[in-house]
Amino acid sequence: MRVLVVGGSGFLGREVCRRAAGAGFSVVGTYHCGSVGVSGVVGRRLDVTDRAAVRALVAEVRPDTVVATPYRYDDWAVTADGAANVALAAAEVGARLVHLSSDALHGGRPTPYADDDPPSPVNAYGAAKAAAETAVRAIDPGAALVRTSLILGEGSKQIELCREALAGRAVLFTDEFRCPIDVGDLADAVLELASSSYAGLLNVAGPDAVSRAELGLLVAERFGLDATGLKTTTATAAGVVRPSDVRLDSSRAAGLLRTRLRGVRELLA
Ligand SMILES: NC(=O)c1ccc[n+]([C@@H]2O[C@H](COP(=O)([O-])OP(=O)(O)OC[C@H]3O[C@@H](n4cnc5c(N)ncnc54)[C@H](OP(=O)(O)O)[C@@H]3O)[C@@H](O)[C@H]2O)c1
Repeated sequence: MRVLVVGGSGFLGREVCRRAAGAGFSVVGTYHCGSVGVSGVVGRRLDVTDRAAVRALVAEVRPDTVVATPYRYDDWAVTADGAANVALAAAEVGARLVHLSSDALHGGRPTPYADDDPPSPVNAYGAAKAAAETAVRAIDPGAALVRTSLILGEGSKQIELCREALAGRAVLFTDEFRCPIDVGDLADAVLELASSSYAGLLNVAGPDAVSRAELGLLVAERFGLDATGLKTTTATAAGVVRPSDVRLDSSRAAGLLRTRLRGVRELLA
């Protein structure tokens, strides 16, 4: 299988590249400002906001599968328009598309979100991820769209934030709940979906919901760090406009995939 990982220099993209190359696939990974740096993977520079460049690269690589991960938190053109450009280019060559979406497109509520729940974004990032989904589904109804949550693992920015908060240099919210997932589990799930015919939205996150502050305590325990300095507050008190309680119900993915989606308590035990 020939795989094009758009955003191959990112945290998840690089893991997908590693595992795809390890499985013997022919892999091309794209980067924008960074680099891919994975043995056996061909790196190519790409700006997803440049539709002509995206089409040209996809037409040249002729992938069987495109995995689309790029986003920039505060850049609509990358997150929304870029996703549409990748979906269009993939459709032009008849490639299978796995698009990465986010729990951040939900507004937050006490009950878990099902796979097909419509977006209810509360900020520009959530709105851009929602717009990306709408574009991808319109362009390619056969695409798999993976809604995921905080991605953990070696080098995770979520773990780094916890370490910073434990050192008193950042703050973690007690009222922001998520269902973290391991980067390796997510990469395996993405590659499984690439080889399947699953179409539409799928929650792919861990089974345990924790607040950011609880995640900080789990990180402290796991790495033997002193938790007494952990700085916490509420998102409300901090005046941050982000969805508070977003729990993804990933039972459909758990039943569908061979990959076991481990919970954060197991991951950081
Ligand atoms: N990280 C999380 O906790 C989390 C949670 C929920 C959902 N997600 C979703 O999961 C996906 C992967 O997240 P991640 O944490 O792996 O992201 P990441 O590490 O921040 O990587 C983002 C990728 O996007 C690329 N990119 C940025 N601007 C670009 C542009 N103009 N053209 C082409 N590529 C561009 C970056 O390339 P360069 O680095 O080379 O510039 C990088 O490869 C995203 O779609 C995100 O919305 C992530």
